[in-house]
Amino acid sequence: MQNHEWSHRVYAIDLSPTAQLRPLEPWQAEEFLAHIDRARPNVDPYIPWCTFSPDLESARKTLQKYANFQAADTGRIAGIWLEGTLVGGVMLFGMDAASGHAEAGCWLEEAGQGHGLITAAMRVLLDWAFDTRGLHRIVWECWDRNERSQATAQRLGFTHEGTLREEFLYRGERRNTMVFSLLTTERKKD
Ligand SMILES: CC(C)(COP(=O)(O)OP(=O)(O)OC[C@H]1O[C@@H](n2cnc3c(N)ncnc32)[C@H](O)[C@@H]1OP(=O)(O)O)[C@@H](O)C(=O)NCCC(=O)NCCS
Repeated sequence: MQNHEWSHRVYAIDLSPTAQLRPLEPWQAEEFLAHIDRARPNVDPYIPWCTFSPDLESARKTLQKYANFQAADTGRIAGIWLEGTLVGGVMLFGMDAASGHAEAGCWLEEAGQGHGLITAAMRVLLDWAFDTRGLHRIVWECWDRNERSQATAQRLGFTHEGTLREEFLYRGERRNTMVFSLLTTERKKD
């Protein structure tokens, strides 16, 4: 057995019979960039995530940023592999363990969408945030025209707290940002 297979067995969490959640680290920048290039058409209309990684150097910096968050206990990222291909991921950022707050984010390339992968992956991340790190409140923000993101937040039990009007300037447009949150006391356990 090769070493990388061994490490995937140790660090992978099964999301379904064909999908796994695994660490996503700077050494995987080439695989990450190839995925990000596939994801741009699905993700760019909604969030600038893929635009942060236009080339290999910036892709590595993006993953290094999250590695630094993890080391500083201010966030983390994990990738989703479907049938062995990286198709998206979930992350926490702006994490403040002392106050018990963090913000959640996620993305998928087209091939990963519609299988419940973010719902499953986010449940793992939320369990870690609430149970392992003892966080109290996780925020989820999205454009009010991002219906899939809203549906996922609601599926996970998040509550819509309000909408920040024309808050986000993106692609020359001032967009309304919906703010959702989930408190540790409100989690759906199934
Ligand atoms: C937001 C985004 C991650 C949601 O992807 P998604 O695949 O719809 O997310 P989920 O994991 O919640 O999956 C739900 C879909 O899987 C289907 N599904 C299949 N099996 C499922 C299961 N076991 N559990 C839940 N849903 C399941 C659902 O029916 C739904 O598909 P449908 O809407 O076509 O009916 C994706 O649309 C995306 O990357 N958008 C662009 C980037 C973005 O907006 N990121 C979030 C910014 S706030």
